[in-house]
This record gives sequence, C-alpha cells and structure tokens, in this order.
Amino acid sequence: TTAPHTDPATTSVPFAVPATRAPGCPFDPPPAVDRARQEAPAVRATLWDGSPVWLVTRHQDVRDVLGDPRFSADAKSPGFPFLTAGTRVLAEDSSFSFIRKDDPEHARLRRMLTADFMIKKVEAMRPQVQEITDGLLDRMTDGRDRADLVTEFALPLPSLVICLLLGVPYEDHAFFQDRSRVLLTLRSTPDEVRASQNELLRYLTDLAAKKRREPDDGIISRLVARGELSDEAIAGMGRLLLIAGHETTANMTSLGTLALLRNPAQLARLRAEPSLIKGAVEELLRYLSIVHNGVPRTATEDVTVGGVTIRAGEGVLCTLNAANRDEDVFPGADRLDVTRDARRHVAFGFGIHQCLGQPLARIEMQIAFETLLRRLPDLHLAIPFEEVPFRHDMGIYGVHSLPVGW
Ligand code: HEM
Repeated sequence: TTAPHTDPATTSVPFAVPATRAPGCPFDPPPAVDRARQEAPAVRATLWDGSPVWLVTRHQDVRDVLGDPRFSADAKSPGFPFLTAGTRVLAEDSSFSFIRKDDPEHARLRRMLTADFMIKKVEAMRPQVQEITDGLLDRMTDGRDRADLVTEFALPLPSLVICLLLGVPYEDHAFFQDRSRVLLTLRSTPDEVRASQNELLRYLTDLAAKKRREPDDGIISRLVARGELSDEAIAGMGRLLLIAGHETTANMTSLGTLALLRNPAQLARLRAEPSLIKGAVEELLRYLSIVHNGVPRTATEDVTVGGVTIRAGEGVLCTLNAANRDEDVFPGADRLDVTRDARRHVAFGFGIHQCLGQPLARIEMQIAFETLLRRLPDLHLAIPFEEVPFRHDMGIYGVHSLPVGW
C-alpha cells in the first residue's frame, strides 16, 4: 500500500473527470484540461467516485507515460482509474482482450492480428472500401436532398468494413451497434454494461462456434482455425475489434465533416486540392481527438513524469485531446489547418497499445472525405449549428446525428 499523495504543489487543482467543454466551443478540449496542461506536467483530478487520478496533458509527457512499461494498462492492476461506474465492470471481466492487458499477454494476442491490419493488406482493400462508400452515397442521395449523415453514411461505412473483415453478418448491425452504444455511454450503470457485454460475448461465442463448423476467410474464422484460443477468448477479441472498428471511424467522419463545414476556407482549400486529403485526415484526428476522456494507466512503481513523482498504485489519465493541442509541438494548435504537418499527433495513442486499426481507419476516412466532398459539392448543415447534438455523454466524442443537405 502507498501513502496518499500530499505534495501541496500538485493537489491544489481540483479538476473533475470527465471535464465539461465550454459552451459554444464543441471542437475544443474542456477548458479545465487545457488549463491543466498550462499549469503543471501532472495535476491531481477527481473521478466520479471521489478517487484521485493524475491528469497527464503535455505531448511529451503523454508519450513518456504511454511508452513506459512501468505504467500498466491492465484493468485489474491496483489503482486503475475507471472513468465511470459502468467501466469499472471491466475490472471483473477477463474477456476484454488485449487493450486492457500488459505484455507479454498483450503482445501474444495482438500478434495474432497484426498481419490483418498491416498497411499493405489494408491498402489492398481500397477498391472495396470505395465501392461501399459509393453505394452508401448512392442510396443516401437517391431522390432526396437531405439525410442524417451519421446513420446513412458515417456509421454504416466502417461497420460494413469491419463486419466483412471479421466475418460478422452485417444484418445483425442493429444488435451490436445498440450494445456498443450502451458500453460507450458514460452514464450506463454497471448492470446495463454487464448485460450488454454478456449479450455481445454470447453472440460472438456462438459465431465462433459456427465458424468452427462453417469456416470462411474472415478474422474470426482464422482465429478459430489457429486452435490456440477458446471461443470465449475469440469472442473477446471480436468484441474489441467490432466496437473499436466502427464507433471511432464513424465519429471521426461525421465530426470531421462538421468541422470542415464550420471552417469554409479549409473546406474550399481541400476541395481545390484533393491531394491534401491524407494530411487533412491527420489534422482532423489531431484537432478533434475523439478519444477525449483520457487513456487510463496505473503506475506499477514510482515514476517521475515531467519532474512530478507518480507513486506505485496511482492512476493516470493521458488526455490525448490536450496533448494534441500542445503549442510546443503544434504552433497555433487551436486552429484547424489542413496544410499542417500533424503526423506527430497522439490521437491513436502511443506505445505498445497504439491503435492496431489505424491503417484501416486512415483509408476509410481518406476515401469517405474525398468521395463526400467530390460527389456533394453543395454539402451543408441542414439544422442550426447550435442544435447539433454533440456526444458529451459518450466515451468516444462526435455527434449523435448530423442532418445535412446537398
Ligand atoms: C487502440 C484510437 C480506429 C482497433 C486504440 C487506442 C486509441 C485508438 C487512442 C489506444 C488505447 C489505449 O492505449 O488504451 C482510434 C481512433 C480511431 C480508431 C481515433 C479512428 C479514427 C480503429 C479501428 C480499429 C481499431 C478501425 C479496428 C479495426 C484498435 C485496437 C486497439 C486500439 C484493437 C488496441 C490495441 C492494443 O491494445 O494493442 N485506438 N482507433 N481502432 N484500436 Fe483504435
């Protein structure tokens, strides 16, 4: 056991997590988190249950923590900071797979998927992703002049792609999208989270058993064929990929579109010069940082971060959104600039847990933005900006819906 932290220089700033964004600034990190970055390399904040947590907010310090094996990503490690009562359920759940495990177990499981998400493998999927994108836009625009971009385009695109990769029937999308919504809703109760979790796992366990009888060339089938994992462990992997694989890209696509519509000069620049798309996607990842509540870790021994000592057993949240607005790395960080070199952003995390799906997310977003802007030159928001329902209540930021016209 560790004595509570009593260093007065670091306990004076009472930030509550998750922090709230400023009214009228829905693209910017909460002011409290920005202030934390300016004040100290690590500040004490308070979680929903009153327990203390460190906020690490600066770009270099975030990379230091996420790249340091003395910080554990294991939800079972003592002092692990859970963002909500619902996510604490994860601590009892051994099937959550490798995002909440440490090496060597993390590496053993992640390695089984690296070939599937390699840049070369994913680049070969461009024609297929383009076809899905065009099909969705054909349907969305057929005989209409407005629609909800989230349900008709931004969500089904990555959802169709990840289903294809995994070998999950897309017809079941209402079922798994509904369950993942519960898992990502900050105010979901432990019972709700547990129920959704179990339903998803049961569904994927049954699917793994089915692939054992009728194999196909999807990832789940190949994991089954390896013969190293139980159907339950495969279900855990499947759940991670299914949720991570569509909620994130979907929200980047819809929120990114909105950010461009709100920055008409940047949008015009991108339309005039489609070769800027790749860089613009990196800039949107940086500027929007949809994994917005901090990536959790626990110190397993005393570690000094930016001169502040974090003791063994103390929890840390690495706020990727604040790190991505660090002026020392991104001058004029609060400005969206599609010509900026934003490649050092940490929107995909950093270190051994850095996003496995990033090559896939990149091609999906590049194709989605390029196609949307090319095919709908008059794309515009169909409701007042003030009425856009932002996802303040979710673990992944974005918009709940985005009514657009063209
Ligand atoms: C991990 C962000 C898309 C699969 C992560 C992490 C972040 C992230 C920040 C690190 C979490 C941590 O360190 O605790 C994003 C963003 C995306 C995106 C912003 C889209 C714009 C995807 C896609 C997939 C995916 C499309 C899969 C198809 C994963 C997996 C991990 C992960 C499996 C865990 C990696 C590990 O623990 O080794 N992602 N992600 N992500 N992501 Fe993504």
